[in-house]
Amino acid sequence: MGKIQVDYTDCFRETMEAMRGQGLLLVTRGKDRKPNIMTIAWGTIGEIWGRPVFIVLVRPSRHTFKLLAEREEFTVNVPSANLAKAAEHCGSVSGREHDKFKEMKLTAMTVAEADTPIIKECRIHYVCRVLHQNDLLPETLNGAVKERFYPQGDFHRVYYGQILAAYAER
Ligand SMILES: Cc1cc2nc3c(=O)[nH]c(=O)nc-3n(C[C@H](O)[C@H](O)[C@H](O)COP(=O)(O)O)c2cc1C
Repeated sequence: MGKIQVDYTDCFRETMEAMRGQGLLLVTRGKDRKPNIMTIAWGTIGEIWGRPVFIVLVRPSRHTFKLLAEREEFTVNVPSANLAKAAEHCGSVSGREHDKFKEMKLTAMTVAEADTPIIKECRIHYVCRVLHQNDLLPETLNGAVKERFYPQGDFHRVYYGQILAAYAER
């Protein structure tokens, strides 16, 4: 089995279903070049500035937030059902203290388009470079959303990543 390049819209349904289920796996890599995985359940794919874009939301408290400041790239990886445990682990411990690739026996696979790897064991991949980022503005956020999701603040930063390539399992 290998990876083939696909159009970024080809796997939309599968990607969204996984995002609503166990979550997707976001990989970043900072200055120390050690890749880190974080589970995400919020995000969207679309077209902005005439480019394909994957938008993800990361709270400042995440180690991933620091790594994104060091290298403005990320990959989004869609796990199959057999990686549910990995999604749970990567969404509950931090790369500050854990090597999640090692602990979950996952393989960091190099891609041509970026310095940040994809996760070989996943079935769909988006390689992204950050084009823009902005913080949520508490004063313009819907009151019910603010109360439900931000009782402690830690408002997400929104990252707009240009999709440089999308891959799927052959
Ligand atoms: C299913 C699931 C979805 C998650 N979605 C997000 C998300 O979209 N954004 C976010 O900032 N944290 C999200 N989290 C929390 C992070 O994955 C979690 O805090 C993780 O341990 C952060 O890892 P890091 O410190 O290595 O970056 C989610 C957790 C789970 C279990």
